[in-house]
Amino acid sequence: MTDIRNLSETKKQVIDTVREAGELLLSYYGRKISSRSKGGLDFATVADDAVDKFLREKLAAKFPSTKLLTEETAPADYSSLKNEENLWIIDPIDGTTNFSRGIEPFCISIGLVSRGQTLLGVIFEPTNGNLYHATRDTEFAYMNDDILKVSETQNFEESYIVTGLPWGGKKRKEVYNYIGRIYPKVRTMGIRGSAAQDLCELAKGTIDAFFIAGIKPWDIAAGTLFALKAGGKFTNMKGEPGNIFEEDVIFSNSRLHEKLLDTLH
Ligand code: IPD
Ligand code: CA
Repeated sequence: MTDIRNLSETKKQVIDTVREAGELLLSYYGRKISSRSKGGLDFATVADDAVDKFLREKLAAKFPSTKLLTEETAPADYSSLKNEENLWIIDPIDGTTNFSRGIEPFCISIGLVSRGQTLLGVIFEPTNGNLYHATRDTEFAYMNDDILKVSETQNFEESYIVTGLPWGGKKRKEVYNYIGRIYPKVRTMGIRGSAAQDLCELAKGTIDAFFIAGIKPWDIAAGTLFALKAGGKFTNMKGEPGNIFEEDVIFSNSRLHEKLLDTLH
């Protein structure tokens, strides 16, 4: 049995598991599949539920004493888990809407979190085989074998800023207002439909920042670590150090962070 504190060995186990989960996910991709409402506008497909169950069972078998918070089984109030020393946080499909319509990006995201800080992150994109991974105790984050590094963009006018669209009505309005402040000042903005994958792109340097209101911990648990290890910055909307249990967050290549904070407010 692997000791979860041995992060490099634990990461190997998670990578094996996420690759298997990717095969399961692809078996549903491009097919007409059923879905269920999660209340309001939110929904999950049978693939979300199947991959969620697969990952829950695999990780529980490998790490029996570690608690799990998964998107499809999360209780309405999971605040008691915020201070867990070791907690698996799983999004079986981040980008469910894209997935359900046969478009990318979407991915599987697994984070091991200690009191709101990520110890280990793995994200897998089964359609192209890209695997993003990092552990807190090593210097870099990787896409496959390549070291990730954030962009060097310094000028706001040249930046590509990404945001996301939350499910809740009040938070939608907040994001809409933020876009109104940022969009006139930057080269372009994007809404790509998978916060976890957006953080991979930020860490890779293809986009310069990602912000959102109303995000959930499973959307950012893994990707946060890639952004930080690649030289990025993660805060809440007040500019305080980020915590994956916060709902309103900003990630950037560091260089644009202050400008973004100023513009958002
Ligand atoms: C969603 C995506 C999207 C973000 C939403 C999330 P889901 O996750 O990450 O980019 O804007 O807030 O809920 O529902 O596809 O797992
Ligand atoms: Ca999801």
